[in-house]
Amino acid sequence: MSSNDKQTEWVLGLHEIAQKITREKISVVLQDLLDFTVERLHANSGSLSLRRDNKSLRITAGTGTAASFVGSEIIIGNGVIGWVAQNKEPLLLRDSLSNDSRFKNMVKRDDDSRPASSMCWPLLTNKELVGVISINRNPDQEPFNEEDFSGAGLIVSLVSLMVDNARLSMSQKRKMLELYDANNLLEEQKKQIKKEHSERLAIEQKAAAELRHEKEEQVALNRQLKEAQEQLLQSEKMASIGQLAAGVAHEINNPVGYINSNITTLEGYIGNLIQLIDAYENKASTEEIDKVKDEIELDYLKEDLESLLKESQQGIVRVKQIVQDLKDFSHVDESEWQWADIHRGIDSTLNVVNNEIKYKAEVIKEYGELPQVECMISQINQVILNILVNAAHAIEEHGSIIIRTGTENESVWIEIEDSGAGMSEETLGKIFDPFYTTKPVGSGTGLGLSLSYGIIQKHNGRIDAKSELGKGTTFRIWLPIEQNK
Ligand SMILES: Nc1ncnc2c1ncn2[C@@H]1O[C@H](COP(=O)(O)OP(=O)(O)OP(=O)(O)O)[C@@H](O)[C@H]1O
Ligand SMILES: [Mg+2]
Repeated sequence: MSSNDKQTEWVLGLHEIAQKITREKISVVLQDLLDFTVERLHANSGSLSLRRDNKSLRITAGTGTAASFVGSEIIIGNGVIGWVAQNKEPLLLRDSLSNDSRFKNMVKRDDDSRPASSMCWPLLTNKELVGVISINRNPDQEPFNEEDFSGAGLIVSLVSLMVDNARLSMSQKRKMLELYDANNLLEEQKKQIKKEHSERLAIEQKAAAELRHEKEEQVALNRQLKEAQEQLLQSEKMASIGQLAAGVAHEINNPVGYINSNITTLEGYIGNLIQLIDAYENKASTEEIDKVKDEIELDYLKEDLESLLKESQQGIVRVKQIVQDLKDFSHVDESEWQWADIHRGIDSTLNVVNNEIKYKAEVIKEYGELPQVECMISQINQVILNILVNAAHAIEEHGSIIIRTGTENESVWIEIEDSGAGMSEETLGKIFDPFYTTKPVGSGTGLGLSLSYGIIQKHNGRIDAKSELGKGTTFRIWLPIEQNK
């Protein structure tokens, strides 16, 4: 066989082994490589060591050696293999090694038989040491010569490449495994995140639904509250109308009483006058007529007739005024929001509650200039009525109620000051609470001010109260002149 044929055969054999790199374990591939090399070089034993770290190699494959030899460690620098690894130079040995000072700490052999000749190569890629391959012949064989040594050089460099390739393939496999693991982990994490995300979404959706539900409940509650408040307002209105009716009846009773008695007197006077006319018609004598005149006290009758008619007329005017005030107060014949004269509202309210306050207090009006105010005047009257009635109640014997008005910026104010008993801080803090009353059971519902507060709020206004025990109380209502729509 020519040396070219030999080399082709080598390359084909190595190629076959190379096919296994991706399928087999690296140790199997390396063992195959070593077996192949030992056989082709007609040797009888060999070893293949791979570099572990900067200090040592490990024997990875062995052919014709003791089993325990594989796996053992070789310190770089020790023995033949250690020397080749350290110097990165190939070695051809033909003689006994015992006296060669280059090789210290030789690996101990089980059979203690040293090979007669050896070839040993460093396996290098890019001048980096990958491992060492060593091939031996027994003493009964022809020792390796220079030709064997140089002929095997090319093969060894191919083996180097393959060893490196196998190592690379292994590290690639490891990396792929790592990647695979990392990918699995990532998938796992992705799943977890997805799960958490959907859980969070569910929680958020639940919270949103709860919020919506709460809001709906709140809206329903608000509506109920508003309805209740409106009912209260209505019933309070009815109650104060009842109270007022009694007062108004009293007010009307007075003029109607004296008009009635005047009419009775007038009836008598008319009888007297008819008596006188009859005397004239019967052409009675002057003495007889004078007698009648004396009897009916004609001079007094004439005088009294005039004053009776005048008084009755005044009474009727008074009744008419009361009816007008009642109408003004309740504004039954007008729509709700309107431009109204606040002073006229206060006056009509005062007339309506006249009966409640006239025995208790002197009413002093200190009106300023007021424009027309956009409001629900019947409700504003209701507020003024509540405050006036409270003021009258707070005055024990006799006192005063001062009503002031004025304008400031875009608002008007109405102030009602009484010289009544006043309130403690504590009471003052509660007067706008529904059902808060200090009045005896049956006489106050404790709703007057709370409803008033609601009415003023609806007008986008404000109601303030100042009070001092023993000195009196002042309420001040603020109303915007125009409602912003
Ligand atoms: N001018 C005032 N002086 C002293 N206390 C007052 C005055 N106005 C109100 N109060 C106190 O505020 C409480 C609540 O007043 P509010 O008008 O709301 O109810 P009420 O007058 O007791 O009953 P209602 O008006 O429903 O018949 C009164 O009971 C009283 O204690
Ligand atoms: Mg009251």
